[in-house]
Amino acid sequence: MGFRDDFLWGASTAAYQIEGAWDADGKGPGIWDALSRGPGRIARGENGEVSCDHYHRYKEDVALMREMGIKLYRFSISWPRVIPGGVGAPNPAGLKYYSDLVDELLNAGIEPMVTLYHWNMPYALFRRGGWLNEDSSLWFEEYTARVADALGDRIRYWLTFNEPQMFMFLGHRIGIHAPFLHCTDDQIIAMTRNVLLAHGRAVKVLRDKLGDKVKISIAPTGDCFVPADETQKAIEAAFRQSLEIGQFFEFSNRWWADPIYFGKLPGEAFDRFGKRMFTLTNDEMSLVNQKLDFFAYNIYQSQAEYVDGGMLNRRYEYPGCPITYYGWNVTPEVLYWSARFWHERYGLPVIITENGMSDNDWVCLDGKVHDAQRIDFLSRYLACLKRAADEGVDVMGYCHWSLMDNFEWASGYRNRFGLVHVDFRTLRRTVKDSGYWYKSLIESNGANLPDWDEATVH
Ligand code: BGC
Repeated sequence: MGFRDDFLWGASTAAYQIEGAWDADGKGPGIWDALSRGPGRIARGENGEVSCDHYHRYKEDVALMREMGIKLYRFSISWPRVIPGGVGAPNPAGLKYYSDLVDELLNAGIEPMVTLYHWNMPYALFRRGGWLNEDSSLWFEEYTARVADALGDRIRYWLTFNEPQMFMFLGHRIGIHAPFLHCTDDQIIAMTRNVLLAHGRAVKVLRDKLGDKVKISIAPTGDCFVPADETQKAIEAAFRQSLEIGQFFEFSNRWWADPIYFGKLPGEAFDRFGKRMFTLTNDEMSLVNQKLDFFAYNIYQSQAEYVDGGMLNRRYEYPGCPITYYGWNVTPEVLYWSARFWHERYGLPVIITENGMSDNDWVCLDGKVHDAQRIDFLSRYLACLKRAADEGVDVMGYCHWSLMDNFEWASGYRNRFGLVHVDFRTLRRTVKDSGYWYKSLIESNGANLPDWDEATVH
């Protein structure tokens, strides 16, 4: 069976991680511009002020995508670039930049997919309380309307938020990402309510303005546990555990997905938080729970295998086992299980909107970037995603994280995730071996992947 003929082979990026041009042409400051410079914030004091300078070099980058045969490009809009103060007067130059990028993509035969919020809040709005402010969903609605007016005639795929779990956890709970806060449970609960409403208002604006011709969703992440074996008992245990309202990871899958897809707040949230749990009126819940067109998911690794009664790390923590440069587990089977679990639960076509591995790639003496481990990693992970497609899970696409090496948030520039290497001194791009490998994979529509059962054995 394999991947469907119109499978969306993609690559992802996020505005702050690649654009640079942090104050060009009327852009306002975002929380990363304003808050990440302090001591102890970003490794080695690095920042995203120039990064890949994609803002000025997007034509070259689109040409590279075309060369690699990429069919879909997922990128995010910088809110402070298009509305410098967050609300109010838009910045025509900012909107024009995205409009030109979209034209360049379409001319190259590449489908654009937009993420409205990839962690880049305008600083002016943060100063008014950010996601804690009850007006924040209205701010987001206004911003979405401006972007829809400027780009809606040409963009089919829309994502409201990137990984609400992560910007809550990293940015607002443990304070290692902008805005570098350590919030309480009550504050996370209040912000969740505002972000859910912001998602709902954005979906409504997109539908009102653009109708059913656009495909809308949100790109969460979360813990996805892998069954320790393929007995029914182990599969059910791993699925159940993946659905838990976790202690951390704010607060993983169902905390966000159940209100959005089922129109229900998860019951366990009330068991856990009691009267402190937020509520939504019926109207508000209808806003949050509008029909979405697909289920998007970002997933890099599984934390653990799971059997009833506990986590095992047999496969992931033996001495000398494969890990990425970040130290993340190499768990190809998580692509199969997450696609299968989420398709089963939410009943929509699934797209993996982020997956990939960081390494310490460099340009070799022959001028090429020989990233054999990334090719192996992708062969294994994608073989498992193909298994899901072979078994009838409706998998509509896969976006590699990332198109190119970029500013990897708190860790600066050392964790390289790209199919394209970037020399951050000269900004020179070099397509890595994995980029050429991805091209041939796309050409064969995944037919030359290994069998999944070989791919999962190390
Ligand atoms: C984020 C990306 C990030 C990647 C690797 C994801 O959580 O969406 O922005 O670069 O992980 O850390």
